[in-house]
Amino acid sequence: LTPLKDTTDFPVGVAIDQRETSGAASDLLRHHFDQITPENHMKVEAWYDDQQRFQRHPQATALLDYAAANDLRLYGHVLLWHAQTPDWFFQDASGRELTDSEADKQLLRDRLATHIDDVARSIADDYGPFGSETNPLVAWDVVNEVISDQATPDGLRTSRWHDVLGEEFIHLAFRLADQAFNRDYAAPGSDRPVKLFINDYNTEQDAKGTQYEALVGRMVAAGTPLDGVGHQFHVSINTPVSALASTLDRFAGLGLMQAVTELDVTVNPATAANLARQGYYYRDAFEVFRGYHAGAPASEGLYSVTVWGLTDARSWRSEQAPLLFAGDLSAKSAFFGAIGQDDGLPPLVTT
Ligand code: XIL
Repeated sequence: LTPLKDTTDFPVGVAIDQRETSGAASDLLRHHFDQITPENHMKVEAWYDDQQRFQRHPQATALLDYAAANDLRLYGHVLLWHAQTPDWFFQDASGRELTDSEADKQLLRDRLATHIDDVARSIADDYGPFGSETNPLVAWDVVNEVISDQATPDGLRTSRWHDVLGEEFIHLAFRLADQAFNRDYAAPGSDRPVKLFINDYNTEQDAKGTQYEALVGRMVAAGTPLDGVGHQFHVSINTPVSALASTLDRFAGLGLMQAVTELDVTVNPATAANLARQGYYYRDAFEVFRGYHAGAPASEGLYSVTVWGLTDARSWRSEQAPLLFAGDLSAKSAFFGAIGQDDGLPPLVTT
């Protein structure tokens, strides 16, 4: 099969855990992809044991080792999120929920600073400074899913981060990540070796995209050290591909890169006819990505396009068969579409 990564001018990534780092799955991964994202094991909760002690999850280590050994880039996910974060992050030592008092704000700021510094140091201690040849980490989703699905005055999701700190937590997370990954633990002479992304879902939906664009605009205006805008693109075959294109266009011209961070395309039900439609969907989506990247200035192109899992069997939405490969590792029509090989696709049944 034509390697997917050879059909694009941008790196192609895949979300995995340790199960994809050996055997036939690993062979398939290394044939088609340039980059990995840890699907779960670098989320906030993964960095602590049940005594609230910082530790690196063995699976995070396995993925860093795998990336380093196989010349794959590692895209970190995620430094700050409202989900998969321990409750104690938002409580004081006695278990009281933090409020927006000055003292509580400072506690949460300090907690975030400690977390980000610990993560950076843990990785740099074992893999060398960021930007050095031995360290595979190239980017982070710094904050994830901070935009509200409803219209709100500031467009931001209600969360414990937002309750305590308001919008400040977003800017702060980027400043702390920049300090840790691009200064304190960066290789001397390297130039912003770790790219810092904001990331969200449903950014292809107009109202949410508008709130996202407004926040990104405020970040740029504030000088927040943001390198790029991430779009999860958890879509279905009924999401118009044109919405993906207009979403990328919306963020063009800001001097920022963009990344497709969690692409998958559900079909429901997974009939032969729908799986064929999915093939054409992936074809059209990758055509949009290639075209966007080709037309953008180098500093504003696509940083990477990542699919959220290697096979349907391993997808968080596995019953809706959203990925490029089947559970037996065979290439689906979705794969042939993604590489642009139309003659690998069954005819579309439109009735
Ligand atoms: C999902 C993982 O795929 C699942 O294994 C886990 O149980 C829950 O999280 N948006 C994100 C990802 O940013 O972290 C989520 O990943 C999917 C939605």
